[in-house]
Amino acid sequence: MAKGYKGYRYFEAIEKHAGLLGILILVMVSLGGLAEITPIFMEAHAVKPELGVKPYSPLRLAGKDIYVREGCYLCHTQMVRALRAETERYGGYSAATESVYDRPHQWGSKRTGPDLARVGGKYSDEWQRVHLKDPRAVVPESNMPGYPWLSEALVDPDEVQAKMRVLRRLGDPYSDEDIADARAAVAGHTEMEAIVAYLQGLGIDNVPQAEPAPAATGAP
Ligand code: HEC
Repeated sequence: MAKGYKGYRYFEAIEKHAGLLGILILVMVSLGGLAEITPIFMEAHAVKPELGVKPYSPLRLAGKDIYVREGCYLCHTQMVRALRAETERYGGYSAATESVYDRPHQWGSKRTGPDLARVGGKYSDEWQRVHLKDPRAVVPESNMPGYPWLSEALVDPDEVQAKMRVLRRLGDPYSDEDIADARAAVAGHTEMEAIVAYLQGLGIDNVPQAEPAPAATGAP
């Protein structure tokens, strides 16, 4: 700084007072942070469902919450990345519009098991049930835990209706009729049926154009 420059005394005051310097650094870093974060937040709200992508059916909604409750996301991601190796193995890469009705989204980052974003239709319902009860019955080398209790517990229709009402308040387009019909749609169904319905719609119900299901294989 040139000697005699008028503004220098301000610099001097700031540099000589650690507290003031700290506060001003905080202000500048916050401004920089806001400039980076705000547009991303706005963009996230701007993601709208594409034509044909509907909110979860009552049974699949129950299934999605069982998926979260059981911690399936701890071993499975639901996001095919835009990399050759990923799309060759799982199918088309994931788009943000596919998860507009996921609260919270299930993208995940830990893959002890394979990505499930495109698993819908890959196996039969029966395979999914057997696999969830005892994975080693169909994939001998699997280290996935079994979830046999899902076949015994029933889905609670009141809870599903309450969830739909909350989701509608958050912006999901459920009609009064959808919510009224939800009771009949889930009554008497087991949690196993709900989670299998959820899995079978992944990569189909939430994607504008359904992709052809890849050939079934025993192991991932
Ligand atoms: C401890 C980690 C772990 C947890 C927790 C887990 N899985 Fe898995 N999962 C695996 C592994 C490993 C495989 C691959 C072997 C196999 O097919 O069993 C797998 C395979 C699968 C497959 C077959 C995927 C394919 O493309 O072949 C499905 C479907 C699946 N899991 C669903 C679930 C669901 C639903 C839950 C929660 C109820 C769950 N998993 C919890 C580890 C896990």
